[in-house]
Amino acid sequence: MTTIRVALDPPYDVVVGPGALAEVGRLVADRRRVVIVSQAAIADRYAEAVRAGIAAPNDVLLMGDGEQFKSLTTVEELCRGFARVGLLRGDVVIALGGGVVGDTAGFAAAVYHRGVAVVQVPTTLLAMVDAAIGGKTAVNLPEGKNLVGAFHQPIAVVADTDTLASLESREYRSGLGEVAKYALMYDVVADPTGLVDILRTGTTAVLDRDPALLGDVVARCAGIKADVVAADPYERTGVRATLNLGHTLAHALEIAFEHRLTHGEAVAIGLVYAGALAGGCERVGMDVVDRFQAVPASLGLPVAVPDAEAVTAGSLLELMRRDKKASGGLTFVLPGRDGLELVEDPPTAALRYAFESVGITDGGWT
Ligand SMILES: NC(=O)c1ccc[n+]([C@@H]2O[C@H](COP(=O)([O-])OP(=O)(O)OC[C@H]3O[C@@H](n4cnc5c(N)ncnc54)[C@H](O)[C@@H]3O)[C@@H](O)[C@H]2O)c1
Repeated sequence: MTTIRVALDPPYDVVVGPGALAEVGRLVADRRRVVIVSQAAIADRYAEAVRAGIAAPNDVLLMGDGEQFKSLTTVEELCRGFARVGLLRGDVVIALGGGVVGDTAGFAAAVYHRGVAVVQVPTTLLAMVDAAIGGKTAVNLPEGKNLVGAFHQPIAVVADTDTLASLESREYRSGLGEVAKYALMYDVVADPTGLVDILRTGTTAVLDRDPALLGDVVARCAGIKADVVAADPYERTGVRATLNLGHTLAHALEIAFEHRLTHGEAVAIGLVYAGALAGGCERVGMDVVDRFQAVPASLGLPVAVPDAEAVTAGSLLELMRRDKKASGGLTFVLPGRDGLELVEDPPTAALRYAFESVGITDGGWT
């Protein structure tokens, strides 16, 4: 079991490893009452293991499965459930599930009684390495994703890598897109995490979901996320924006393909694009451009747009300009000799090279 400290005020721990569900009870031992929020299929498998360690009275509230249940309606249902079981401000909510449960239960905990404690217990790879750490909670409106939310840091995060065994293979692979991102984040300056090497030498074990190796991989990714969050808790200084490596094109692809590509698949293609764009801008050499392709490829992720004729570079550029983090121009997180930096409006030739590197060659966009 590995414990990573998120150095905020107050700090909290991320506990990672096989069997970590047994740790949840210890982390809520001082609470009078506990509510576990989950989805039916996840609760069936894992709620008992969590409840077994909890001494206080506890209940399980279920929410729907799917992005459409990340809604204010669900938040109301959860808050009414909290009220029915008599949850008070000093008590605790446990969010047991993927990013949908974590974001929704986290937001309900942020607003119920003006804020009750939440423990994030992520059960997808994406939530373990990303969504559960950092305190961003939100639900969707018909007008857009994550439009209503709050920063609400958890009091602890517990990532049990045994739970990944039951994840559908496409969901697991999608999480690997974020793992590839972490591996490449610090690759240019140095590789203090060693993730690139672990992924290279342990590819088969990672793809086979070896819980012990996954404990190490998740802990390293969580460590990077924890450091970035501690440096920029409210996304104000630009440090946290580095987590968007590969995401500018990824968000555009998700919209263009109406979510037929998973987030992680889109991020993988976005990483190849970001590496090539950095190469085209002469920020890095071909070795880095190649690595930005090789790491996602080794994890079985797509490295080119699957149905490239269905989109044009022009339409993707338009979507990237509209990205909520782009403020009107084109903004990318790109590797360079001093590490990751925000780069605005790169030259046309570099964009063309980057599009071609992911199989988009229509050319009619200058
Ligand atoms: N708050 C943040 O910082 C942040 C960061 C990234 C993503 N997100 C959000 O996370 C959400 C996506 O999260 P996700 O990819 O975890 O999807 P998800 O929560 O929808 O989970 C995917 C599917 O896997 C199932 N599942 C979860 N754990 C399982 C397990 N161990 N075994 C079997 N099935 C399991 C779920 O029931 C669901 O059907 C999006 O809404 C996104 O906006 C938030």
